[in-house]
Amino acid sequence: MSLTPALPRTADAALVPGWPTGSILLGCDYNPEQWDRAIWRDDIRLMRELGVDLVAINIFGWAHLEPRDGEFDFSGLDEIMSLLHEAGIRVNLGTGTASPPPWLSRLHPEILPRDRDGVIAYPGGRQAWCPSSPVFRARALALVERVAERYGEHPALALWHVSNELGCHNAYCYCDVSAEAFRGWLRARYGSIEALNAAWGTAFWSQRYSEWADVLPPRTTLSAGNPAQKLDFERFSSDEQLAHYRAEAEVLRRRSAAPVTTNLMVTDHIRALDYWSWTGDLDVIANDHYLDHRLADPLAELAFSADLTRGLADGAPWMLMETSTSAVSWQPVNHAKREGELARTVLGHVARGADSICFFQWRASQRGAEKFHSALLPHAGAAGPGWQRSVELSALLDRLEPVVGTRVEARAAMVIGWQERWAAEVDTHPTQLLQYLPEARRYHAALRALGVTVDMVRPGDDLAGYDLVVVPTLYSVTDAAAASIARAAADGATVLVTPFSGLADEQAAIRLGGYPGAFRDLLGIVVDELRPLAADDRVALEGGATGVIWSEALRTEHAEVLDRFATGPAAGQPAVTRAAHGAGAAWYVATALEADGLRDLMRRLCGEAGIPVIEVGDDVDVVVRSADDRRIAFVINHRDEPVEIASPALIGLDLVAGTAVAGPATIVPAGGVVAVLSERSEP
Ligand code: GLA
Repeated sequence: MSLTPALPRTADAALVPGWPTGSILLGCDYNPEQWDRAIWRDDIRLMRELGVDLVAINIFGWAHLEPRDGEFDFSGLDEIMSLLHEAGIRVNLGTGTASPPPWLSRLHPEILPRDRDGVIAYPGGRQAWCPSSPVFRARALALVERVAERYGEHPALALWHVSNELGCHNAYCYCDVSAEAFRGWLRARYGSIEALNAAWGTAFWSQRYSEWADVLPPRTTLSAGNPAQKLDFERFSSDEQLAHYRAEAEVLRRRSAAPVTTNLMVTDHIRALDYWSWTGDLDVIANDHYLDHRLADPLAELAFSADLTRGLADGAPWMLMETSTSAVSWQPVNHAKREGELARTVLGHVARGADSICFFQWRASQRGAEKFHSALLPHAGAAGPGWQRSVELSALLDRLEPVVGTRVEARAAMVIGWQERWAAEVDTHPTQLLQYLPEARRYHAALRALGVTVDMVRPGDDLAGYDLVVVPTLYSVTDAAAASIARAAADGATVLVTPFSGLADEQAAIRLGGYPGAFRDLLGIVVDELRPLAADDRVALEGGATGVIWSEALRTEHAEVLDRFATGPAAGQPAVTRAAHGAGAAWYVATALEADGLRDLMRRLCGEAGIPVIEVGDDVDVVVRSADDRRIAFVINHRDEPVEIASPALIGLDLVAGTAVAGPATIVPAGGVVAVLSERSEP
């Protein structure tokens, strides 16, 4: 790494193309407050040795900066800022508000969040604050004022880091303060109690509200709750976190010209934040990602998350704000990374658009809940293999410099959103087995196994330029989003819509007149009955594929039938259909195809869309990033056997090995190639 990366010094980093530029940035979280001051200089010497460019500090600083109510002590942070500056290391400065000190909730117990049963979350962990608490907000902003005033023009400051993983633990609060804030949010959205009653369908089960005071967050109920109320509470909760971010960012922007961001959690197990609505407020799109070994395919989830983060960045390079060198400490079994896995997973993020790679954390904690979490500098210190792994990683990032500023090439898009996830995953739907993200990831994984890169697009956004558009489980869809999907087909794209799409509007009310509602005309079909499958059921299609989870009784209007159910509750009914639409076509699949059948379908769709496929199979990433003057191919083989790559022909310089490649290439087991392609290698 260069020790002085070209970081923007403007409030509007979004205007600085490809931030941060210069080199692939290496960064880390650093929690010096956990260590004696004597260790700080050693740490910073080792950071320099490793080539660390950017250090996130003061993430959990509040109890140190304000040890007692109104009593401030900035000496530690002053010293760390100076030491880092003297070492030429830039700072990603936390506002320090992620976790309030225990004295604050002793003085103001009303800031503590409550779950849907009214149970209070106490200090002792982290993030124990109600997102709607005006008391917490005021105290947090008072701290941010001081931090911004003191360090807003500090020469080491490169980036502001608001709070930390907003909404990770405290996304939903059901206390009385939150209830009042929810009512305020609803008033702004609906204007009148009558409009709220209409939108929530409160004619059902005597739920009609006569006064705003009767409206509550979706606290524990005896039977199933109102799905529209739950959906709006999800929206409200995301907006409350965003409002907190905005309030802190406003203070920072008033006192400092440095760009402002926060670390997003684009990952499977966090569902509470609609990040599409956050992007306009972030100067840099930054994601935290850890391999999740609770999932069937953690690497497929990594690829999905990285593509979605790039979507949030509108295709521009983004920052991996946190990842781990090896194990984390919050899963039931915390797997260490295998030999070479750190490099391969980091390459996976870079391939899909990251130009900055930062780790949680610099030095492994000695105490506290994260002491078994891996770090750049492990407990053993700078002598053992853990440190050596960090050194090798840093050297690899250095070699990737030609990647900086390039953009990922993609001709396929997936329409995906958090509000759509909230609307689709409801306990009173036809089946609990059809889960939004896992289902979307299966289509993404099938395309990844064919070497096809997917851009993620917000529902309603323009799809121009994509040859293939995948629309998974878009149960709740606005007219505008449905229209943009139809327009893509009309303009020549091949569109695939999957089960349980188009049925409802944005209030989760069913669109009458026949399923699949918003997509009925586009797809040229009518679904007469939804016939979900039991957990261990499997249906056969006449063409040989098998499906799980879902089937339905479907008639075509102007679509052709490409395959039918051979068995199961919809035997004899169409299972795969295609309708010509303008210059393109709209396909529908009426079940969750299992892996082979799904890959066959995606292969056919790519064929129709004119997208070349590369038969790489599971656990391999093939992604191309390019700029006007160069194309760079990433081939990452996570498997234990070699992978043959015929196209793109890897002719050029391999940045991983530092040697020339002349493809077709064989990628060694658990290996990777990042080739700066020469002219001759155009597929
Ligand atoms: C999150 C948090 C960090 C740390 C890591 C551990 O990303 O932001 O503070 O807890 O998880 O994986």
